Amino acid sequence: MSKMNRNRTGQGALMFVAAGLLGLSACKGTQDTPVEADTYSSLVSERGEISFPADFPDGFRFIGSWAVAGEGGVADIHSVYARPSDVDAFRQAGRFPDGAVLIKEVSASRGAKHTTGEAFWPTDTKTWFMMVKDAKGRFGDNPLWGDGWGWAQFDPADTTRQIATDYKTDCQSCHIPAQDNDWIYTYAYPALGPRGQVNLPEGAKTAAMTPDAAGHEASAATDGKGDPAAGKLAFETTCVACHSTVAGKGGVGPSLAGVAGRKAGTGPGYAYSPEMTNSGVTWTPENLAKHLEKPKEFIPGNRMGNLFPNGVRDSRHRMDIVAYLGTLK
Ligand code: HEC
Ligand code: HEC
Repeated sequence: MSKMNRNRTGQGALMFVAAGLLGLSACKGTQDTPVEADTYSSLVSERGEISFPADFPDGFRFIGSWAVAGEGGVADIHSVYARPSDVDAFRQAGRFPDGAVLIKEVSASRGAKHTTGEAFWPTDTKTWFMMVKDAKGRFGDNPLWGDGWGWAQFDPADTTRQIATDYKTDCQSCHIPAQDNDWIYTYAYPALGPRGQVNLPEGAKTAAMTPDAAGHEASAATDGKGDPAAGKLAFETTCVACHSTVAGKGGVGPSLAGVAGRKAGTGPGYAYSPEMTNSGVTWTPENLAKHLEKPKEFIPGNRMGNLFPNGVRDSRHRMDIVAYLGTLK
């Protein structure tokens, strides 16, 4: 960084940030105090051009995320980042300090049945949004600056390419619901602490996992109405680590080929525990569902109870898996 040239914009910029961090008053700097840098942020040029931090995510902290619902699940996942010093300042003051940087990554997502339910995860980055706090109205004639922030968007294929042209049309219209909250949706960022929990949308609701949140209700997997295709998916994420579907091919657990209707502990090619073999249980759909719901309790002492103690909590998933097991000849 070059030595301070005392222009109006650069004056006191780093000073301000440093003073903020130390909890001192920014007024201690005077017009003539030399400072180390000639712009107020290393990510902003003298003309207000915003650049994406070259070594992101180094120096940043994940502060929270959004999942945007789409047809059939989660369409986009948004992950938001800030620098630890800005997070600390927010936690103390309830607002971001001059020069604070917020970055939002928008990712496409994929989903599949998991042991937790239908779970989605982020894949390709679709775009990057970035805001830089400007408490001094520095770049009045630059259309990407105003209302206390610099606003920018970056091409995911090349983050040196800033692609927003005018914050009023490209960004601000969508941030109007957060207008009274310095244009940002802080309540979604747990890292910001209690002071971020303001301006919540009316009617914000808590969703339950479908179809039954924690699987607390009685086993419903006895009506044979499970979906074997969904069950196959669930089986492949949850059971295949221990069970094959090839007849006679044991692994950690026995092959489940032909399990439906069989007496417990009698499949070929596997050394069962005596508890399983002597249980007297026949694998009806109802008993399969009970075993999957509580692997430790249904046949006490069987080895799956210790290896897979939580079982399949969601009754729909149990039903689906049982339906699938019925197809394994
Ligand atoms: C389609 C509406 C829309 C547009 C366009 C939009 N935003 Fe946002 N932005 C939101 C919403 C809503 C959130 C919070 C919820 C979410 O991410 O789904 C958000 C969150 C953000 C965040 C995370 C911090 C916060 O406010 O919670 C940043 C940073 C951000 N936007 C920057 C920008 C910038 C810069 C632009 C323009 C280049 C822009 N946004 C354009 C709607 C929009
Ligand atoms: C971490 C390993 C593990 C996982 C995961 C697991 N099991 Fe098992 N399972 C076992 C073991 C080991 C046995 C044999 C228990 C014994 O002999 O005491 C067993 C036995 C069984 C039996 C009795 C088979 C028979 O021939 O009597 C069924 C049915 C079964 N498991 C179904 C499932 C299903 C369905 C899943 C997935 C939802 C699953 N298990 C997940 C380890 C596992």
